[in-house]
Amino acid sequence: MEKDVVLLAIESSCDETAAAVVKNGREVLSNVIYSQIALHTEFGGVVPEIASRKHIEKINQVIGQALSDAGRSLADLDGIAVTYGPGLVGALLVGVSEAKAISFAAGLPLIGVHHIEGHICANYIENKDLEPPFVCLVASGGHSHLVVVRDYGKYEIIGRTRDDAAGEAFDKVARAIGLGYPGGPKIDKLSREGNPDAIAFPRAKVAENEYDFSFSGLKSAVLNYINGCEMKGEEFSRADVAASFQKAVIDVLVEHSIHAVMAYGFSKFAIAGGVASNSSLRETFAERCGREGIAFYHPSPILCTDNAAMIGAAGYYEFLRGVRSGYDLNAVPGLKLGER
Ligand code: KG4
Ligand code: ZN
Repeated sequence: MEKDVVLLAIESSCDETAAAVVKNGREVLSNVIYSQIALHTEFGGVVPEIASRKHIEKINQVIGQALSDAGRSLADLDGIAVTYGPGLVGALLVGVSEAKAISFAAGLPLIGVHHIEGHICANYIENKDLEPPFVCLVASGGHSHLVVVRDYGKYEIIGRTRDDAAGEAFDKVARAIGLGYPGGPKIDKLSREGNPDAIAFPRAKVAENEYDFSFSGLKSAVLNYINGCEMKGEEFSRADVAASFQKAVIDVLVEHSIHAVMAYGFSKFAIAGGVASNSSLRETFAERCGREGIAFYHPSPILCTDNAAMIGAAGYYEFLRGVRSGYDLNAVPGLKLGER
């Protein structure tokens, strides 16, 4: 039997300070998340400077908690995995510096992990049977990617957003209808009280690439609808706007994804990223994949939004491939998937 690999994983790319201990990539021994959302809410979005300062204040406490929840000490570990991009540079630097310091002090291998690879690998944690190849839709605050996962660590991006990411559109529309930050969960909740067919918002197609997304036209259509109502002095239903907007986003994500799975001839499909925790999106994919005979995988909501367990899962497969980072590891805010 192969020796177990236990990694401490650290994630600080945006507004969650997170640490986890993960065994063999799929067994989460602890998963601690300190969410800064409440701090940023009053500003209507993440303030990078505040995020970095909070990370530095919280990170030791979060790591200490992750080790103690897992019942492990640094001496029990086989390596440290850390998100080094993409994300906010000041925020990333806190996690990267911390991981380098622990790696140096404890003599442990260091593995720099791509944040989006982490989101994709979150699927391995609860779906023990999931193995590549499969198609994965990554929809987060900063990314909307359709990815062919050829093998562990081998990714091909076949579709991306031309403008706003799906989560960004949720956040902007939520702000426009006065729901505040973060928009995704609030629109998700309010949509349950609205009629998704009340307003015909556009479903954009991108002529050059059938798998690419564009959400800025939809966002403008929602803003125009609200302005139009206000100018006419008409009341509008916020719940109907939320539900109709959400359905427009989901329709496009589902159509593009299912088309890709079929065109590429795969039988497995997974979702990842903050938007993947959307309840209606999950129901729609489950129903549609069921009809098409496609096996559908999704992480629990807590593993969809930012966390370190997913970084431990991705870090494990990078570790197995022999990936090791040096002490010159730096934060790379615009890191591309598949790049080192
Ligand atoms: O993956 P994530 O936690 O952070 C990034 O890597 O960006 O994603 C955050 C994004 C935010 O835009 C948030 O509004 C969206 O995910 N989100 C949701 C839901 N929960 C979070 N969008 C729709 N429905 C949700 N339930
Ligand atoms: Zn993320």
